[in-house]
Amino acid sequence: MMRGGMDVLRNGETAAGPAPAAWEPTLVAFCCGYCADAAAALAGSRRLQYPAGVRILPMPCTGKLEMENILEAFEKGADGVLVFGCLEGDCHFVEGNLRARRRTDRIREMLDEIGLGSRRLRMVNLSDSMAVEFAREMREMTETIRRLGPNPLRDAEQGESRGRS
Ligand code: FES
Repeated sequence: MMRGGMDVLRNGETAAGPAPAAWEPTLVAFCCGYCADAAAALAGSRRLQYPAGVRILPMPCTGKLEMENILEAFEKGADGVLVFGCLEGDCHFVEGNLRARRRTDRIREMLDEIGLGSRRLRMVNLSDSMAVEFAREMREMTETIRRLGPNPLRDAEQGESRGRS
């Protein structure tokens, strides 16, 4: 399916064939400071393995995350985005994580509609002690993205930049 100059299949896989051999998925992880940020630190101190291509962006609560923030991450070339919020019922701002869940669900629908694929975005609820789960989510998302291939928006963006220069 051709959309906006990108060669993207319905499930988010690129039609350009296999990903380049040297390519490693780049993930952005929006992490609530009350849970995931601490879980990430704990994972590090326990030397739990997760892929290096993850950019962790701490935030006070996932309820502060706007849809634009997630879309911007994809526009800037992230191959996948994770949103880590507190367990349901444990958000320090009462319903911030529920709001984030609604927003990520809406964006997942949009990603399917534009052919990028909803599997590139995932929201996970955890506590500050769930370092094992944090590392496992990172590994699983990286494998999912590896199967989907690079974010086609990155190539489109680079092409536009080249055209402008
Ligand atoms: Fe963690 Fe709201 S305080 S998701």
